[in-house]
Amino acid sequence: MEITLWGVRGNMASSALDTVFYGGNTTCIELRSDAGTRVFFDAGTGLREAGSTLPDSGECHLFITHAHADHIIGLWFFKPLHSPDWTTHLYLPNWLGYLPDYFFAGGIFPVPFSTLKGNVVQHLIRAHEEIRVGADEMRVTALPTCHPDDCLGYRVDVDAARFFYSGDHEIKANDAARAATREMLTDADIAVVDATYDRSDYKKNWGHSAWEDWVDAAQGAGVRNLILSHHEVGKSDQELDRVAQEVSAYENPDGPEIYLARENLRFSPDGPIPSVRLESDWMLRFLDELSHYKDESVTLDRILAMARTVTNADAGTIFLVDGDELAFAYTHNDSLFAVSNAYKYAYATSRLPVSEASIAGYVACTGKTLNLDDVRQLPPDAPYRFNDEFDRSTSYRTRSMLTVPFLDLEGRVSGVLQLINRLSGKPEQPAPFTLNMAHTARLLAREAGSVITHNALYRKNVYNILKMARVHDPSETGPHAERVGAVASELYQRWAEKNDLSPEEIRYGKSHIRLAAMLHDIGKVGISDLILRKAENLSKEEYRIMRSHTELGASILAEETDSISVLAHDIALHHHQKWNGEGYAGSSDAGRLAGQDIPLAARITSIADVFDALISPRCYKKAWTFEEAFALLRKEAGQHFDPELVVCMEELRDMLPMIYQRFPDTE
Ligand code: C2E
Ligand code: SIN
Ligand code: SIN
Ligand code: FE
Ligand code: FE
Repeated sequence: MEITLWGVRGNMASSALDTVFYGGNTTCIELRSDAGTRVFFDAGTGLREAGSTLPDSGECHLFITHAHADHIIGLWFFKPLHSPDWTTHLYLPNWLGYLPDYFFAGGIFPVPFSTLKGNVVQHLIRAHEEIRVGADEMRVTALPTCHPDDCLGYRVDVDAARFFYSGDHEIKANDAARAATREMLTDADIAVVDATYDRSDYKKNWGHSAWEDWVDAAQGAGVRNLILSHHEVGKSDQELDRVAQEVSAYENPDGPEIYLARENLRFSPDGPIPSVRLESDWMLRFLDELSHYKDESVTLDRILAMARTVTNADAGTIFLVDGDELAFAYTHNDSLFAVSNAYKYAYATSRLPVSEASIAGYVACTGKTLNLDDVRQLPPDAPYRFNDEFDRSTSYRTRSMLTVPFLDLEGRVSGVLQLINRLSGKPEQPAPFTLNMAHTARLLAREAGSVITHNALYRKNVYNILKMARVHDPSETGPHAERVGAVASELYQRWAEKNDLSPEEIRYGKSHIRLAAMLHDIGKVGISDLILRKAENLSKEEYRIMRSHTELGASILAEETDSISVLAHDIALHHHQKWNGEGYAGSSDAGRLAGQDIPLAARITSIADVFDALISPRCYKKAWTFEEAFALLRKEAGQHFDPELVVCMEELRDMLPMIYQRFPDTE
């Protein structure tokens, strides 16, 4: 069996910006048996979307728990009821036989039920009745729940599994309700339940339960997956994130797996099914692509490009939270510079405080979406002001601005995505962003935010490894590694563009080489400090030992099999190879390579590494100037270095100072 959550709200539907993540449709759950029998529970607004995914003909079963508006309002908009090629079995609690006709009679809907084109077979069900449904004879049992005006929950046994849907139910109303809850949950592989409240906002006798009470009731009842649903309409995504955190703290290791219901999630008895239509296909494809990149600037570049595409924004900026500041992290601006030039701005260094005084700061503080039609006409009582410094320094004219937060896995704001000037027909007249665009941008930022968080974790691992190396080699600093990584990734991009690689290949390669190049000297952890810190020239024997840092690094990295470690292994082993074959990949001359036989990533890292070694002071030498360093690269082109890559390096001449400013030596 497979369960799809089409609507997870109670009370009424919401299309507010801050409910878009968990979803605003009212309750509707689909069960599909292995044999293909389709059953829907409740006809909240989620039913409309469920219907829109159905084929043009067929048969389905729709069970209603009770007649409160949030459970029935979608009925009239269910595709099968409007098609002569569909038959819908409509199961109503036996006291609700009047319901279909009442919509028309009561002036709630303009068309009588009997005139709809779909075939409807109506069934009335009594509490505790058990019926058989579909060709596979699934067993559906109606279990009365505790709710004003009465309500039926439904239990389904099919495919050797058990499903339970509570409709609305107040566990704590009385002792009978408590006892009934036990029976409802017994041995359910999947239970979708009414957890409108938590214990802090629980309202006695309103007919709903607090999630903690479901968790307690499920304890020892043999429930495998408990899905907390029917979220109160006023609960924002941020509040539900907080509930999700509390749930995981409350969860008992012996109890069921517990999930907060979210629109479009699917489950099997074994747990969540990776959704094929989570938000929409483009977003899924995009998230899948993003998950391949571990490098921040590539990830941010892609997120910004995608956010601008879906909102038709002329420009955009990403800020990331760093302590109590927002660090400017990435920007695009089609009117001012080609996107292919945007990489330069990845190394900009401006910062804003996380405070309500700026637009980005306000969004970072509050987690809200700000959709401003014109940044020069802000409400007088708004705490934030538009900072026009960028406009004044560039003659750009910012008008409409859509700003949404990035959230990390715990729902904390980790950054801000700002989209600027929605393009319209008239170039001088950017249009306001629509509500729909605001929704889409927020969802995109929400999903991409967890990718950013993941990548940051991965990078943190790289930094931690580098820190160990630094303990005894003062030149192996974070900034040194960052600079080598940044220069290597930019060199790779130049090289790849000249060699006509596709944009996808370039992004992938660029993302990998940066982190891998940062680890080039990791083998120095195994070299004595006496050698590393020696102020004079190394003796022959010392230099022989020093050369072994290449094989040492490679052997450390050889244990890992992820694609970045594989690349890092090649770089560590070969970054001291020379184009003319006179370099080394170990303490002896064994394993020497020349020319194209040296892996490209190692040839690239070699230039980035030597350049940085020359520009930086070392215990054994002074810092060189950029011009001196470039003179050496030119002299060694075709000797030490791949001449094609030296040309690429020359083309980066303008950008290198930005990289060096962005990652200065701190110690
Ligand atoms: P490193 O300091 O990170 O330098 C990396 C590479 O940059 C060197 O690889 C070399 O190709 C280049 N390089 C650095 N400084 C200079 C320079 O003043 N002139 C020229 N022409 N090239 C330079 P190499 O030579 O294989 O050295 C590998 C590592 O061995 C160095 O990494 C450093 O840690 C160590 N090392 C090399 N020579 C000495 C030395 O005289 N004294 C000490 N204490 N360490 C040295
Ligand atoms: C929704 O309410 O989730 C969709 C409406 C919109 O995208 O503007
Ligand atoms: C990932 O981003 O998928 C891996 C993160 C990590 O290894 O820490
Ligand atoms: Fe309800
Ligand atoms: Fe090295």
